[in-house]
Amino acid sequence: MESYEIRSERVGEGIWRITTIEKGETLFEALWKTDGVTYNAYLVETSEGWVLVEGAPEGATEPFLEEISRITDLKDIRYVILDHLEPDHSGALKELLKRLPDVTVFLSSTGSKLFDIPRSRGVSNGESISIGERSFTFFHVPWVHWPETMFTLVEDVLFTGDILGSFGIHSNPQEDGYFYDLVKYTASVLMEYKPFLLKALQKIEELSPRIVAPAHGPIIKGKEIGEVINRLKEVIENPKGLVVLASSMYGRSWKLAEEISKNEDAKLINILDEAVSDVLSWMLTARKITVVFPTYDGDVFPPMKYVLELAAKKHLLEGKEVLLVNTYLWGPVGEKAKEIVEKGKPAKVEIRNVKSSLI
Ligand code: FEO
Repeated sequence: MESYEIRSERVGEGIWRITTIEKGETLFEALWKTDGVTYNAYLVETSEGWVLVEGAPEGATEPFLEEISRITDLKDIRYVILDHLEPDHSGALKELLKRLPDVTVFLSSTGSKLFDIPRSRGVSNGESISIGERSFTFFHVPWVHWPETMFTLVEDVLFTGDILGSFGIHSNPQEDGYFYDLVKYTASVLMEYKPFLLKALQKIEELSPRIVAPAHGPIIKGKEIGEVINRLKEVIENPKGLVVLASSMYGRSWKLAEEISKNEDAKLINILDEAVSDVLSWMLTARKITVVFPTYDGDVFPPMKYVLELAAKKHLLEGKEVLLVNTYLWGPVGEKAKEIVEKGKPAKVEIRNVKSSLI
């Protein structure tokens, strides 16, 4: 059972962030290992009541609602905006709807077709809604990483949902480890939708907000926004260097991977010692990927097969040079690995089948 800590802070004129923090080693989406993760919701004050943007996981509902009550009476919330309905943000909605019988929930028109949310209304792309003296404008940025994702702009503050979200618990983008956690989140959660992600990043640049307020990770302000987007786009569009991914049953494949890495300036990773989320983020950043793996049951060693299948789906092999080094005693399976890798549209795939010796 997760345990949550909640914090709140004022982040702009009449805007508060309520951060639900999951500390320690966390398995985000029950898949991606990270050292903590945050879920951000935002309260926006208007002359016609308060607007809650995003939410919290279901398990954090009680402390989340208590934290809201420190800022305003829960009954003052008139509207809820969900830029994306995955349960890490919509988990507290059921209880909110129970306690707030008059609240209206805004979600994208795509979301309203997909989900039957009581007292909700779909908003179209580019639509603006005035609440009191403030204007809320919605921009559909579909498929990052669900079909119904959108941005909400309030003056110069852009709520971006998962986009520019990061793992870890960081107070600002200048902190050590922030960029790595941003890349890791992007590689694990968003890269399957690479063309849509790049369009969404471009949309942020076009809107040129003063504050980017994502649903995970720190707020990004001023010139940091362009810097973070450019650095992330550079990783996605212009990866560099060589990563050697190794998996070994009896040590022979590992020794071979060490030898290969020695000859080139490579980052060597034993995938059996690392979380898959970390392996995927190293694959995203590399232009050349060498994969060393033994044969198992007449097929690619299962943990490596899993990594390659994920990488192919998540565009982490696209346009890259991939070298497949298969170690075997009685059955080479380089071709089987190649079949998986080619689905990821690499620029070049080479196979090296290496027969090991028993003595
Ligand atoms: Fe953070 Fe896709 O939910």
